[in-house]
Amino acid sequence: MDPIHAIRGMNDLLPGQSARWQLVEETARSVLERYGYREIRTPVVEDTRLYQRSIGETTDIVEKEMYTFPDRKGKLLTLRPEGTAGVVRAVLEHKLLNEDRAPKVYYLGSMFRYERPQKGRYRQFYQIGAEAFGVSDALLDAEMIAMAWRFLAELGLSGLEVRLNSLGEAASRTAYREKLVEALRPHTAALCADCQRRYEQNPLRVLDCKVEGCKALAATLPNIAESLTEADRKHLADVEETLHDLGITYRVDPQLVRGLDYYTRTIFEVSAASSELGTQNTVVGGGRYDNLVEQLGGPPTPAVGFAFGVERLVLLLGEKAKPQQPRVFVAALGHPARRWAIRTVEALRAAGASAEMEYEAKSLKAQLRRADKIGARITLVCGDGELSRGFAQMKHMQGGGQRDLPLADVVAATLTALNASV
Ligand code: HAM
Repeated sequence: MDPIHAIRGMNDLLPGQSARWQLVEETARSVLERYGYREIRTPVVEDTRLYQRSIGETTDIVEKEMYTFPDRKGKLLTLRPEGTAGVVRAVLEHKLLNEDRAPKVYYLGSMFRYERPQKGRYRQFYQIGAEAFGVSDALLDAEMIAMAWRFLAELGLSGLEVRLNSLGEAASRTAYREKLVEALRPHTAALCADCQRRYEQNPLRVLDCKVEGCKALAATLPNIAESLTEADRKHLADVEETLHDLGITYRVDPQLVRGLDYYTRTIFEVSAASSELGTQNTVVGGGRYDNLVEQLGGPPTPAVGFAFGVERLVLLLGEKAKPQQPRVFVAALGHPARRWAIRTVEALRAAGASAEMEYEAKSLKAQLRRADKIGARITLVCGDGELSRGFAQMKHMQGGGQRDLPLADVVAATLTALNASV
């Protein structure tokens, strides 16, 4: 029979790797909750129209990368390619804006994009995202960047660069669109087929095209900075001022664009200089999306958010991982001793320790090998002889010391020894 493999671009996370993921996820929860964000979980599958209306019909994501399929009744569904649209839908559906005028939420979960897989780019990948609603002041944009930065700092990641830009409000983008169309007009024949269409429908998307010829042309086009309204310039200056106050180093990059259509005003990305990630070196991307809530049928509500790519963070972390709890192994010889062993591991676990035993009747040597293999800090050894005399032996696996303990003291003495060894 043909073996069945995982789908290309979709990876298994194996037990040997999970401590690094846990470090990322637990650090994220800790940081985000300190800034007042609370967890939200939305479905992995949504109505396809949600993404068409939010990410934008002419984006690469909607045009080429969505996993879209009809359900059994023919309704078009899509595996979420990102988290923001689903969060906005949920916020509106559950009227969260009525309960709190400025809700802050975060999420962890898998996203799906049919991209060409390579290091740091997958078809199923994980994001940690945060979204804050109801505030248009630039203080929140800057705090969002500070929060991303603190998370990276607490993971111990350095050598990262924050890039910032403003895409302006609608008036700025309308003015910019006209300038772009004019600048692109003499070059339309050189554009890829997608961009020829985008030139008509949404010329700003040409700036984000991945095709080499279009990329080279995009670099010569006017950028949005000159088209920003006074209010937009002030907003960007305010974000910068607060970043200074918070001690965050950044670079304004007027060429920075994003792959999703919903952004207004502030956009930002943080990328790693490390060669570990190669070209897929953006670890977090985000920005303001002041029109999206209204676009999806809600009241006019400003919002700002970001999302981290977890695989990319894990690649940058290298060997750093969540420290594992020290473990105890109980080796028993003979039936009565094995019954004592299962009660003892249970009592140790109830007291908060991580404890295991050998379930099959095996030789002492085999059991000690197992204790070594699982990295036990302490092994308790008890045979029927010891049991009848009322004691067990405690072995320190690293230091090599050992001593006899009365059975009644085993749990307390093991916990004390574990704490002393941490
Ligand atoms: P995005 O830039 O499309 O933004 O994705 C955010 C991050 O997800 C990227 O910087 C990258 O680290 C990671 N990522 C994206 N695609 C892949 C992939 N194929 N494989 C591995 N990692 C990937 C968004 O998704 C927006 N929803 C962010 C946001 C939230 N804006 C406002 N709120």
